[in-house]
Amino acid sequence: MFDQLNALPADPLLGLIGAFREDSNPDKVDLGVGVYKDETGHTAIMTSIQKAAKRHMETENSKTYIGPGGVVGFVEGIKQLVLGADSSILMDSRVSGLQTPGGCGALRVGSEFLSRMKEDLTVWVSDPTWANHIPLISAAGLKIKTYPYFDNTTSAVNFDAMDAKLAELGPSDIVLLHGCCHNPTGADLSFEHWQRIAERANKQGFIPFVDIAYQGLGDGIIEDVKGVRYLSSQVEEMLIATSCSKNYGLYRERTGTLLVQTKNASQAKAIETQIQDVARANYSMSPAYGGFLVDIVLHDAALRTEWENELNSMAVRVKSLRRNLLEKIEQRGINKDFSFITQQKGMFTYLGITKEQVQRLRNEFSIYMADSSRINVAGLNTHCLDYVADALKAVV
Ligand SMILES: Cc1ncc(COP(=O)(O)O)c(C=O)c1O
Repeated sequence: MFDQLNALPADPLLGLIGAFREDSNPDKVDLGVGVYKDETGHTAIMTSIQKAAKRHMETENSKTYIGPGGVVGFVEGIKQLVLGADSSILMDSRVSGLQTPGGCGALRVGSEFLSRMKEDLTVWVSDPTWANHIPLISAAGLKIKTYPYFDNTTSAVNFDAMDAKLAELGPSDIVLLHGCCHNPTGADLSFEHWQRIAERANKQGFIPFVDIAYQGLGDGIIEDVKGVRYLSSQVEEMLIATSCSKNYGLYRERTGTLLVQTKNASQAKAIETQIQDVARANYSMSPAYGGFLVDIVLHDAALRTEWENELNSMAVRVKSLRRNLLEKIEQRGINKDFSFITQQKGMFTYLGITKEQVQRLRNEFSIYMADSSRINVAGLNTHCLDYVADALKAVV
């Protein structure tokens, strides 16, 4: 039966990891993989998380199953983190939630839940979007189409084009939005854009599905969800997939939530059983560990402050790397406007250079990035900035 199978081509980004590892150039720079790195290139465990892990180890006395929704305090904590502790939607118990295996799990369960709701739904994703959105959503049996998003000439959001597409959508459409720190472009929606999207959702009847994997890594924990909170306050129904991979550094613990907002508390209760049922049919229950740690961090005043400070310093570091990179590029008089680097948010930026230039950076300078020219800004450090800017000067 398996004789007919051929190996699938390697995932391009994972292929970069292997190529980088094997590269013997001491000056090599990895700007490919989307994980936060500190000045030494290390993806450290956050101190607040380490302390929570210690406390959890000392107090956990059983490994029996937890309930199907996951760690309840964690899910409630994330609801408040994203929507605000004072959210009237939360106070009215209009949001059901489920712990999921990472943001990917949330996107997958959310998509499968949607596919149970209605036949022939189409999920609209930004052009471009995070590569894994496509397989995650289509594996749940939903159709995928793209709406215009990034303008390569301005390196910013082309909102007029996006809005014109949204104006054509209706109740059989789901619009996937990046809550903040758009991956791969770093080009975020403005608050006015979120206002317009809320208006459109109400007028056209499409359902927003927000993917938020970088809360706190852009302009701040609250600033980054201003748009999402506004949208939630305006629409009756929406979905939110959250991830604790980046902002708690819990990548391998697979920690996320799916939140579903609906019209009233009794519908929210029904939905909770539905999303738990989707999870049950896939993997039964989410891994709990990461949820326990985030629950501890969010509900202990000292640990929460420590986590907020740690996250803030990560965001500040990324911003200063953006400023420093732009400065180095400008010092070299490179014949291309890179000023968008400091306007974009979060860990990623599209450099807007050609595939050939990306390949030259890799082959001649051992600087690794996705073919699209997406770089992980957090992969830079003060030592390699001159080298990267010199290399850009040589290829652009
Ligand atoms: C836009 C976006 N959404 C969701 C995720 C999901 O992350 P995870 O499944 O690791 O929590 C990521 C991770 O890179 C992402 O970039």
